[in-house]
Amino acid sequence: MIGFALFGCGRIGRMHARNLHAHPGAELVTCFDVAGPAAAAVAAELGVPQAQSVDEVLANPRVRAVFIASSTDTHVDLIARSVQAGKAVLCEKPVDLDIARVDACWQAIAGLQPLVMLGFNRRFDPSFRALRDRLAAGEIGRLEQVVITSRDPAPPPPAYIAVSGGLFRDMTIHDFDLARFLAGDIVEVQAMGANLIDPTIQAQGDIDAAMLVMRAASGALVHINNSRRCAYGYDQRIEAFGEAGMLQAHNQHPTTVEAWGGARTRAMDPVPHFFIERYADAYRSELDHFIDCVNTGAAPLAGFAEGREALRLADAALDSMKSGRAVRLA
Ligand SMILES: NC(=O)c1ccc[n+]([C@@H]2O[C@H](COP(=O)([O-])OP(=O)(O)OC[C@H]3O[C@@H](n4cnc5c(N)ncnc54)[C@H](O)[C@@H]3O)[C@@H](O)[C@H]2O)c1
Repeated sequence: MIGFALFGCGRIGRMHARNLHAHPGAELVTCFDVAGPAAAAVAAELGVPQAQSVDEVLANPRVRAVFIASSTDTHVDLIARSVQAGKAVLCEKPVDLDIARVDACWQAIAGLQPLVMLGFNRRFDPSFRALRDRLAAGEIGRLEQVVITSRDPAPPPPAYIAVSGGLFRDMTIHDFDLARFLAGDIVEVQAMGANLIDPTIQAQGDIDAAMLVMRAASGALVHINNSRRCAYGYDQRIEAFGEAGMLQAHNQHPTTVEAWGGARTRAMDPVPHFFIERYADAYRSELDHFIDCVNTGAAPLAGFAEGREALRLADAALDSMKSGRAVRLA
């Protein structure tokens, strides 16, 4: 049984708290949030003590691992302090919005051989994982093209956009990691962004739609589609195309019932509204994997380096969008 502490009891932290509480290999020992009521709500719901400070959490010998689900700007500090206190770390994406801060964090902890896993939950989605396994097993031969579609149901509020780091670092970051998961290292990025949806996002200097084309070191091409709004819900699909065929992972529906009538045919239930519903299995499987890594010492499927690489691709995409040119990566 691994003793866990949770940092950050907001939107996603509450879900992780419930998963930790329900996991047979984990014990949620304590939780902390700078907003006291947020931690108090989790503490009351799950019957765990609420800590009063980061130091109190890290001094607790029953805490073997921490789950960092606090705001992005707190991640590098909490990673470094937790590793220095001897804890294993599972941290939400992104590591940070600034690659220099990411590198400084790694420099501070690298010598400690830390176990740090990044919460790139899409790697743990059962369908995406199965697609990747079948790709790796050679089912479609040499991979030539990947298409990743990721569209949110509705734009976030202006306060979220203000601290998000922009669409590439906040939203596409998942797709950059998925692209690497499927196609390996990326060596070239060409990005176009647009303001098609929400004028307040444009006023804040961000984009709300993007299409990117990337080249992998293997030669495969990857195309990412992003939108901050999607009328039919949370649109999450993958297509991998190779010399011997194609693998597709479609949107998921609560049931497989199809309705046929005069106005439409093959009509299905709506797709899940957003990430907490769509990736519920993936978040649980991500936690399973981290607990396995803590128990066995195995390297996580998405470690600190994966977090850094996804951010590097986001920075390259921003450069490409601004310059109108493809950006080559060393
Ligand atoms: N993997 C995913 O699918 C996914 C989805 C959503 C969010 N995220 C990431 O999770 C993180 C949290 O996102 P959210 O949507 O839950 O945000 P949120 O604003 O709802 O929650 C963040 C919480 O962190 C708390 N916090 C701030 N500083 C803290 C500190 N020093 N110590 C402890 N708690 C602190 C805040 O008070 C807040 O309650 C972000 O980094 C975000 O990028 C990942």
